[in-house]
Amino acid sequence: MVRAALLLLLLHATVLSIVSGTPAWKADVLPFFENYCYDCHGDGTEKGDLSLDGYFTEASVLKDIKVWDTIKYQVENWVMPPPNKAQPTPTERKMVATYLENLLYPCDCDIPDPGRTTINRLNREQYDARPRRHRCQTHRHFPSR
Ligand code: HEC
Repeated sequence: MVRAALLLLLLHATVLSIVSGTPAWKADVLPFFENYCYDCHGDGTEKGDLSLDGYFTEASVLKDIKVWDTIKYQVENWVMPPPNKAQPTPTERKMVATYLENLLYPCDCDIPDPGRTTINRLNREQYDARPRRHRCQTHRHFPSR
């Protein structure tokens, strides 16, 4: 009886995580960079003085917010990878940009209850309507560009 209940609980949790579709660092975000960036910015290569080799965890990303703000910008605005190289899909770009936005700037002043899953449910109009600059300037601990 207890076993059956435990099994049900486990199943429930698994289904929930599949249904919510929240991107995960290891499963979704890191592979994006491995696929599209490592040729020039990883495995010992550092074009433009950028090496992604040291960033295998979210914690390491949070130590270099300024670097990752630039990365987010370039992914979001189709600057990188260079136009003649394999391109991520618009959905992949948005997934990574949104993920980094939430990671780097966790307070979303204009969206009530900003859970990570909430962001996922924004439709295109809502997403595009967001203010272009980050909403929480006070959380930037570096001079803005
Ligand atoms: C084919 C090689 C190549 C690939 C693939 C590539 N880059 Fe670059 N990247 C460069 C080169 C060359 C530069 C430096 C010159 C420039 O800015 O164009 C650069 C510069 C950058 C910079 C600017 C560094 C700075 O401090 O200004 C960032 C950020 C960046 N790349 C991120 C990425 C990301 C993220 C990806 C993957 C989505 C990626 N790049 C994929 C070649 C590449």
